[in-house]
Amino acid sequence: MLEQIPYPEEAKSILVCNQTQYMLDLRELQAILYYSQKADGNILEIGCHLGGTTTHLGIYNFGKYIIGLDYIGPNTTMANEQIHELPDEIGKYAKHLSNVILLNMKSATFDYAKYKNIKFIFIDADHSYPGVKKDTDKAFEYIQDQESGIIMWHDYRPHITDPWLGVQTYLEEVASYGFTIKWVDGTNLAIYEKCK
Ligand SMILES: C[S@@+](CC[C@H](N)C(=O)[O-])C[C@H]1O[C@@H](n2cnc3c(N)ncnc32)[C@H](O)[C@@H]1O
Repeated sequence: MLEQIPYPEEAKSILVCNQTQYMLDLRELQAILYYSQKADGNILEIGCHLGGTTTHLGIYNFGKYIIGLDYIGPNTTMANEQIHELPDEIGKYAKHLSNVILLNMKSATFDYAKYKNIKFIFIDADHSYPGVKKDTDKAFEYIQDQESGIIMWHDYRPHITDPWLGVQTYLEEVASYGFTIKWVDGTNLAIYEKCK
């Protein structure tokens, strides 16, 4: 199991609009917003779905841009258990925000080099082991070349042993290689922070 860090106290006072549908629970959304504000650059959400979280990221990070990426098309790699999550329209709640860029593409084809100064990556897409491995490896490869940056994952659930859910297995594997990934107390969020 990953080492736990306390839930950030300041996150609890972040106001959240309850009219926008998001797939995290309230405390998780507040924690994501808190850490996204700590990062000194642009934001990538891998698996933005209808854009509930993307909208909040956009509103709370004015002056930065937010890339919301999801995929509607053939050959999704998601496990059957997750297939019901496919959005009817990518990021629809966030599309009115001028600092949000919405992309319809598989995360594997995302090119970090095309976008400037991404400093916060939220991985919440294909939760199968190969899916989360692909997105995580790519994010680490990118962050290693940056001075600083934050990666967060949703659905780190160490007490659930659904065989298709690979977030826990893969993150614990990566942590065993020496990467300091922590579990945010009281949530299903994990975080890696590279500081200057
Ligand atoms: C759990 S939902 C994301 C929820 C969203 N982050 C939120 O907070 O509202 C997972 C999303 O990942 C997308 N997804 C799964 N595999 C993907 C892939 N390989 N590339 C892009 N998007 C993917 C799904 O279509 C789905 O919309």
